[in-house]
Amino acid sequence: MPATITSIAHYFPPDVYPNSYFEQYLDTSDEWIIERTGIRERRFAKNGATSDLIVPAAKLCIERRGIELKDIDCIIVATVTPDYLFPATACVVQNKLGIPNAWGFDLSAACSGFLFALVTAVKLVESGGVRNVLLCGADKMSAIVDFDDRAQAVLFGDGAGVALIEMSEDPELGVLDHILHIDGEGGKFLYQAAGGSAKPASIETVKNREHYIHQEGQAVFKAAVKGMADVSVEIMKRNNLTNDDVDWLVPHQANLRIISATADRMGLSMDKVMVNIDKYANTTAATIPSCLSQWWEQGKLKKGDKLVLASFGAGFTWGAVYMKWSL
Ligand code: COA
Repeated sequence: MPATITSIAHYFPPDVYPNSYFEQYLDTSDEWIIERTGIRERRFAKNGATSDLIVPAAKLCIERRGIELKDIDCIIVATVTPDYLFPATACVVQNKLGIPNAWGFDLSAACSGFLFALVTAVKLVESGGVRNVLLCGADKMSAIVDFDDRAQAVLFGDGAGVALIEMSEDPELGVLDHILHIDGEGGKFLYQAAGGSAKPASIETVKNREHYIHQEGQAVFKAAVKGMADVSVEIMKRNNLTNDDVDWLVPHQANLRIISATADRMGLSMDKVMVNIDKYANTTAATIPSCLSQWWEQGKLKKGDKLVLASFGAGFTWGAVYMKWSL
């Protein structure tokens, strides 16, 4: 019997920043941003931390399932913007929600965070080690984005998606296959240089802007197009899925051009692809669960639908999950 997603919810902060916000102080334009990325606006949290994005989504997710807080066994938070380097944001979330009997941890896989954490949660549940996992994918990217660098400021947003993972009641439905990869050779193209043990925070690191994201956009773009498309096609082949069989591609939302290239390679038309990058930009670990939640809320995601979830991110990390939706 596979494990599956038994509840889903998301949260975006209320303050909307359209592309015109950046036009006011950077050498950029609404046209450039839309054409090169597909992004029109994003949300930034004016206050609070990543855990404050998770809490409202988690409350809704738990309420939708009708489960009691005392019955939650494990909390996993996938994020690259933890509240603190330690303690884990999972502990902060546990405390803010008042979940009495859980253990948990944070997982760092950047834009692949939700997929890596989903597979981890599924294996924990399937092993019988826990009955359920509150799986949180969330990032407050505004905490680490360099707002003076036009090549990254426009790309990111803040958000959270939370799923509950439990055993499926139907052997046909749930998470059925996964392919995950890491390749540290790609680390040099996308990273946060300072603040860890390799380069502790100092006056110099602050002056050199080393606590912000460092990204070589074109190198990441090329690797993402290949990585996400290859792994999505591979998981289709391995599960004998034709393009007709796949109901939805649920891709990480980094750039609309990366998403379209993946859909093309899979032979899917864009009406089978979940896209919310236009309104929320790249929310890192929150992109995939927020898409699932929005599409489910809107009634577009149906029980039994065949989904390919696909991601690519810093590390490099990338992968695909094949699941049949069970809500
Ligand atoms: N507005 C206007 N011009 C911009 C700009 C902006 N916001 N950002 C970059 N440019 C400029 C560059 O400075 C460059 O100018 P130059 O030719 O004078 O040097 C020009 O646009 C082309 O830059 P380039 O990097 O080649 O553009 P691109 O088409 O590759 O698009 C990204 C840039 C960042 C949108 C794209 O590379 C990308 O999406 N990469 C992947 C990012 C990603 O997914 N990251 C998250 C991890 S998955």
